Amino acid sequence: MTEALKAADVVEVIETGGAEGAGGAAEGSERAEGVAFPQDRTCPYHPPQAYQPLRDARPLARVTLYDGRSVWAVTGHAAARALLADQRLSSDRDTDGFPMPNARIAAIKNRRVALLGVDDPKHNTQRRMLIPSFSVKRIAALRPRIQETVDRLIDAMEERGSSAELVEAFALPVPSMVICALLGVPYADHDFFEEQSRRLLRGPAAADVEAARDELDAYFLSLIDDKLKNPGDGLLDDLVAQQLAAGTVDREELVALATILLVAGHETTANMISLGTYTLLQHPDQLAALRADDSLMPDAVEELLRFLSIADGILRVAKEDIEVEGGDTIKAGDGVVLSTSLTNRDADVYDAPDALEWHRGTRHHLAFGFGIHQCLGQNLARAEMEIALRTLFRRLPGLALAVPAEEIPFKPGDTLQGMLELPVIW
Ligand code: HEM
Repeated sequence: MTEALKAADVVEVIETGGAEGAGGAAEGSERAEGVAFPQDRTCPYHPPQAYQPLRDARPLARVTLYDGRSVWAVTGHAAARALLADQRLSSDRDTDGFPMPNARIAAIKNRRVALLGVDDPKHNTQRRMLIPSFSVKRIAALRPRIQETVDRLIDAMEERGSSAELVEAFALPVPSMVICALLGVPYADHDFFEEQSRRLLRGPAAADVEAARDELDAYFLSLIDDKLKNPGDGLLDDLVAQQLAAGTVDREELVALATILLVAGHETTANMISLGTYTLLQHPDQLAALRADDSLMPDAVEELLRFLSIADGILRVAKEDIEVEGGDTIKAGDGVVLSTSLTNRDADVYDAPDALEWHRGTRHHLAFGFGIHQCLGQNLARAEMEIALRTLFRRLPGLALAVPAEEIPFKPGDTLQGMLELPVIW
């Protein structure tokens, strides 16, 4: 999951790449100063090799943003959990000192973002309206529908032959169809909102982000009008019928909520499915173990979440001074960036952290964040990943990359990690 861009915040994040096994941190090293942040990954599933000094210096380091500003980078797992639970850190990007990861995002004027960009108590009010729709029970009830969607998409791929571009044919439509059904947004409009979502997250200039947000605002305002006249059975319909009618939210806030749910609801999981597939194909032993015993799939999903850390940059600003373990003080107004790819490879928590290993019983990773903003859609994302990956590899046992791995383009460092394209054959 940046206002609109907020989706970009889940996202407007950070990146990395590095060599497998390049791992363990050496505690007590000198503090790393001035490593540029964020940087592009050199391998789509590893933190950038250039982040190594940050790993060595955990739990805290200083990094330099695109504009030369120096901010704190949290790279230790325990410190990240403590800080994400600390309400002295703010998610409000209009607060002075909020760390902007690039010029494009910094140039955005109107920064309204529901949930992700809001502190309590407002955040709590917004979140409480949505929590029941994303509970374990509600998502479990959605599983047959997710399975049906996945099967239909694979049927269509098979009907077209024995090769496909997997992002377009599968990784994107699975979560996009599911979140549309959950929200009550017509999937027929997917070309429109996928394009706006792409501009929000990866548009080359701030103007793209603002234009995309204007388009989405107009779209959702009109959809809300339709739903007032012809109520359906989606989450957005419920919010219109209950919260809008009761005055708990106004139309503008409802539009901001719908935008974050729609964008965060499909971009993130799509990236996990594409990058997860690529990573499995690059790790044949792990893939074989999974094929031999697919009851390992829930553990594999957790481990892939840890290993890939696609939303690799959680951004905050300190509202008050905060003393951190080790004696450092984050001062009021200081910017703080949390690198999930580094905190999720903290050798104090995970043995051989750069290895992909289903049997480690992965727990407590920070791929979904932590604290009050911890991913609202995590149960949904897990169900989608599990069903999509299990079914894909079961139904297409000969699945392989159609071109050499090095030729496949992946996303740049200041956005969600994932594959731009994934040409496959089976
Ligand atoms: C594997 C896929 C996903 C990943 C890796 C992911 C990651 C994250 C992260 C790291 C955050 C915390 C950001 C912060 O603290 O600033 C977050 C928040 C959020 N995510 Fe996800 N997400 C995923 C899927 C989804 C899905 C499917 C939805 C569906 C609606 C969703 C909706 C949200 C929302 C609404 C928030 C904001 C929660 C709040 O501020 O209270 N995410 N996500």
